[in-house]
Amino acid sequence: HRIFVPNDATAVACGADRVARKLEAGLLARGITADIVRNGSRGLFWLEPLVEIETELGRVGYGPVKPSDVDDLLHGGFLTGADHPLCVGVVDEIPYLKRQTRLTFARIGIIDPLSLTDYKAHGGYRGLERALTLGPAATVEEVVDSGLRGRGGAGFPTGIKWRTVAAAPADQRYIVCNADEGDSGTFADRLIMEADPFCLIEGMTIAGLAVGATRGYVYSRSEYPLAFVVMEKAIEKAREAGLLGENILGSGLSFDMEMRMGAGAYVCGEETALLESLEGKRGLVRAKPPLPAHKGLFQKPTVINNLVSLATIPVILDKGGKYYRDFGMGRSRGTMPIQIAGNVKYGGLFETAFGIPLGELVNEIGGGTLSGRPVKAVQAGGPLGAYLPVSQFDTPFDYEAFAARDALIGHGGIVVFDDTADMAGMAKFAMEFCAHESCGKCTPCRIGSTRGVEIIDKVIAGERREANLAILTDLCHTMKLGSLCALGGFTPYPVMSALTHFPEDFGAAPKLPA
Ligand code: NAI
Ligand code: SF4
Repeated sequence: HRIFVPNDATAVACGADRVARKLEAGLLARGITADIVRNGSRGLFWLEPLVEIETELGRVGYGPVKPSDVDDLLHGGFLTGADHPLCVGVVDEIPYLKRQTRLTFARIGIIDPLSLTDYKAHGGYRGLERALTLGPAATVEEVVDSGLRGRGGAGFPTGIKWRTVAAAPADQRYIVCNADEGDSGTFADRLIMEADPFCLIEGMTIAGLAVGATRGYVYSRSEYPLAFVVMEKAIEKAREAGLLGENILGSGLSFDMEMRMGAGAYVCGEETALLESLEGKRGLVRAKPPLPAHKGLFQKPTVINNLVSLATIPVILDKGGKYYRDFGMGRSRGTMPIQIAGNVKYGGLFETAFGIPLGELVNEIGGGTLSGRPVKAVQAGGPLGAYLPVSQFDTPFDYEAFAARDALIGHGGIVVFDDTADMAGMAKFAMEFCAHESCGKCTPCRIGSTRGVEIIDKVIAGERREANLAILTDLCHTMKLGSLCALGGFTPYPVMSALTHFPEDFGAAPKLPA
């Protein structure tokens, strides 16, 4: 028997370790030999801990399993995949999973994250092998052809960034993975690191060989201790297997990488602050130009990509740029791992081609609110993303369609709110968040955010409402246009969207239905 008990942070937080221990003891007591594999999560978080057992039909799941359910499960013929109140059937057949197009996240929850054998058996390292056959320049062009755009939110074409770095004359180039996943409701980076770490290692190795960089760094966060441990072990295993270090797979080329942990500043997710922090300095934003592609880490040409972008490279190289490009809509090619969170019934990871309407994600896939109350708004793209009201639920998940509505898809996180949410309070929170996280380098953000909190307080108190709303709008305009980086520049999005779509929460008469 092979039994799978997830070992990712979500499942562990829901008691997966205790479930695994209880299972082990229960099996021993019954004299049954079984392999307990600690896989990563499948990304169906409402079912965690989701225990799976291999059967002739496929992997049958039971969830959410509490430690106190284990005896009953062992008693109830669970080892044969038999029915039980917690049985969710063959996991691959669960509609939430079946409706997805898992390209980047194809292996999560399926493999043992630290088994190179498992990784290779599921297509791992085919991308690197093909990249070595193609050579550096053609590898870069394959990424250009794929249409892959930066999954951190800005959507800059990844292949063009690589081309710039490869063409920059230098004695040293670097690959930096931005895994400082600080947006509310996001967990895609963490899932890759915990559930499929070799995928990131392979992606960074391909990037290194393609642009002529011999060193890579993954900058992650102190809130992700488990991801850190899994990544370090995976890096060591890849080195031992000759997949990192000198002369990779006999190619004569070298690339090695290491992990770095941030200290909790949101602004260190901004690429230049991240580079400062990597260099051992305080996370202050640098003015651009020069772009990191020209002068990045230690002033050397640097590819700095979001983790999801880098983890998508192996499948692009394995299956070809054209294969990847065929998914999606408009200029948003390929798939996006949408992270459904907040007040929602079925929270989890939903990887799908661009173009799916927001409403379908919230109501059909997410199942509406957990509270059972009507949905009021969705915040997409992190704490500095816009609030989209139900009337905009027809917006397709696409960089340009969101931008056209003054919103951003960011890193793909959506947080659902029900009708009890107070949007004036949320607008104030955005300004408070900005004031707290501001690096202090530029005035619109450093001072504007604090003044913003005060003005929203006055509006909430009903003090000179119209005049203060005009000042708030003007301030948002200044922050948007005058801030040095996206932290100050995007804070107006949640504020103005809350004000535009929910004026009644700011003391105005409710909008009459059209
Ligand atoms: P950006 O548009 O300045 O740059 C995007 C990336 O492309 C950077 O890596 C930049 O170095 C690179 N780049 C730009 N021009 C280039 C060129 N000609 N050659 C090579 N590389 C080039 O955006 P930035 O400041 O990195 O990020 C802002 C974005 O972050 C926003 O557009 C927004 O979508 C997103 N964001 C996300 C938030 C979130 O909560 N997820 C919050 C705030 C912003
Ligand atoms: Fe720093 Fe804020 Fe200016 Fe960004 S916008 S550089 S975080 S002060």
